[in-house]
Amino acid sequence: MSGKGYTWVQPKEALDAKRPLAPPPLPAPKGESPEAREKEKPVVFTAREPLYSLKNLVLDAATALRVESLKNRFRTHDIVYGEWGLGEIDPSGKHIAFNLYGPPGTGKTMCVEALAREWGRKLIDVSYAEIESKYVGETGKNIVAAFKAAKEQDAVLFFDEADSILGQRMTSVTQAADQAVNVARAVMLKQLDAFDGIVAFATNLARNFDNAFVRRIPIHIEIPLPDEAGRKRILETIVPDKVPFKAKLDFAALAAQTPGLSGGDLKNAVVNAISDLAVQPWQTMDAAALTAVFARQAEATASAKRNVGRNVVVTSDETISLEGAND
Ligand SMILES: Nc1ncnc2c1ncn2[C@@H]1O[C@H](COP(=O)(O)OP(=O)(O)O)[C@@H](O)[C@H]1O
Ligand SMILES: [Mg+2]
Repeated sequence: MSGKGYTWVQPKEALDAKRPLAPPPLPAPKGESPEAREKEKPVVFTAREPLYSLKNLVLDAATALRVESLKNRFRTHDIVYGEWGLGEIDPSGKHIAFNLYGPPGTGKTMCVEALAREWGRKLIDVSYAEIESKYVGETGKNIVAAFKAAKEQDAVLFFDEADSILGQRMTSVTQAADQAVNVARAVMLKQLDAFDGIVAFATNLARNFDNAFVRRIPIHIEIPLPDEAGRKRILETIVPDKVPFKAKLDFAALAAQTPGLSGGDLKNAVVNAISDLAVQPWQTMDAAALTAVFARQAEATASAKRNVGRNVVVTSDETISLEGAND
């Protein structure tokens, strides 16, 4: 991808992200163009009620334990940092900052929503697309606005798909764009240091985290792909009880046939299978036939995952990497 005198090298992880990565900021144009007026509009961040609860989130035992301990940390935070004096040895601990990392579709967004709900807090979710501005300097202002809104509304501040802003992406871009992103990152670090609320990050690419962020965020929890038992539980959870043929479905068989699929993949397959079956004579279909429709949709999801962007390689540790993706 290239523009006017301006080259953006697609980061190798771009296909890993749910939405395409925006090219880095361009310098602000001069004059009274509509874009220039747009520049004056600040991004407004409004807290909302979190959508999910922990009971719908399927995690393996070790991960569930880490999430549980994070959940409890909030409850005891004021005691240990205030009354017990932990704040004296750990001044940065006036806020709770954590990062959930792992492959796409494993439930990271869901987990942050569920934790916010457990804590009885609203959520402000900030996507990079929202705060990233075409104009040098504006991204930093948006970051400041997001922290301010979270403080005023006592909300969990959630940087979802945060790898764009926390990652080490600065290669082969123009000096101005490079500088703009570095400024945004510096603003982020400063805001984080001064903040006394809860900040959550979710990312698919923790490996690329800037070291300064890794140090600033004391809690990193990996949300891995589900194993077979996890897939079975996810399938049982996401197929609604009201689906008339749910009881006939062989979830164990489906789980065995879907290695490598994430919860998000399974959800897509389930949605497609149920929609398919609604226009078929499901009343007369037996368990094997019904289950086969789900298996076919799961296979379609798996094959799409393999083929979308030819150079996606699923490696043995089930992380996705790209070969020769810089074109
Ligand atoms: N661990 C899980 N338990 C239950 N459902 C899941 C899980 N992971 C994914 N899902 C399903 O997939 C959807 C997408 O998950 P999401 O939280 O957006 O994943 P991520 O943020 O890791 O990409 C969820 O809304 C949920 O329906
Ligand atoms: Mg997500």
